[in-house]
Amino acid sequence: MQYTAAMPFDVAAAVIANHPLSADYNVVALAAPEIARAAAPGQFVMVKVATGFDPLLRRPFSIFEVLRDAHGRATGFTLLNKRVGRSSGLLYSVRPGQQVACLGPLGRAFTIVDHPSEAWMVAGGVGLAPFAELAVALRARGVGTTLFYGARRAAELCHLDLFRNLGAELVLTTEDGTLGEHGRVVAPLERRLASRAPDAPVTIYACGPEGMLAATAKTAERFGRPCEVSVERIRGCGLGGCYSCVVPMRDGHGGFHHVRSCIAGPVLPGDKIRWD
Ligand SMILES: Cc1cc2nc3c(=O)[nH]c(=O)nc-3n(C[C@H](O)[C@H](O)[C@H](O)COP(=O)(O)OP(=O)(O)OC[C@H]3O[C@@H](n4cnc5c(N)ncnc54)[C@H](O)[C@@H]3O)c2cc1C
Ligand code: FES
Repeated sequence: MQYTAAMPFDVAAAVIANHPLSADYNVVALAAPEIARAAAPGQFVMVKVATGFDPLLRRPFSIFEVLRDAHGRATGFTLLNKRVGRSSGLLYSVRPGQQVACLGPLGRAFTIVDHPSEAWMVAGGVGLAPFAELAVALRARGVGTTLFYGARRAAELCHLDLFRNLGAELVLTTEDGTLGEHGRVVAPLERRLASRAPDAPVTIYACGPEGMLAATAKTAERFGRPCEVSVERIRGCGLGGCYSCVVPMRDGHGGFHHVRSCIAGPVLPGDKIRWD
């Protein structure tokens, strides 16, 4: 297992803008050129919105989009945030000019495949976040992309035009049937894999709830396709110090060992994780 070693930046990033998408989702733009310049698709930042002890620890967020000026220089990045608790609630309400402590970029990024392989991204809910920059990187290599994107309801499927404009084909599902196919996102993935010639090169990338990651990884393995998953285990430090984020990995001899998903991941090979 390869660990990441590049030194992260710890910056007080000014909020440039806060765009609410729904009652629970928003996108926050932050000025942080050092982090934005160094970031690779799939990496994350550890974020602390408030000063003081509440919340005490930073929280992990994927880098959603890298912001660039008219000369193409990276100036900052955005976070796609879902409000679930204290930190994400504070992030939902930040105002322009406010400062947010950001440590990053952290973790192991996605492997970017080359043409003629196709890249299929499988996102569940806010698991969409690492795929915008991945789609940018894949398009730069001329790789055809498909986004399988599932959520509970239509209101939670966001930024569809961003991916359409990056040339991705969209396959949408909702659990309540309000947009796209009714059901879970792995169903159309499985059908699409079954319809492809077994030797057609397809690489699968997944991010979302752990049940969806497990189902995606097992489906990819069944059809003999490489699959990288971005795991969202709770993180205490993001730097390998606290062991709050461990994931069991199969060792190939019937046993397993744990890796710290903040430094060995968040992107891990789906077929190596012990999912039970
Ligand atoms: C590498 C990585 C990237 C992530 N990227 C994003 C992103 O781009 N956008 C985004 O909105 N979220 C992302 N998350 C999830 C985000 O870190 C959590 O939602 C956040 O830590 C919650 O903090 P909180 O203070 O708001 O909630 P808390 O008050 O700490 O917790 C609220 C509830 O959420 C649960 N919870 C907290 N963290 C997680 C978690 N990681 N997985 C499952 N349940 C959790 C708690 O157990 C609790 O029930 C990412 C997580 C990881 C590990
Ligand atoms: S979050 Fe602390 S070791 Fe991974």
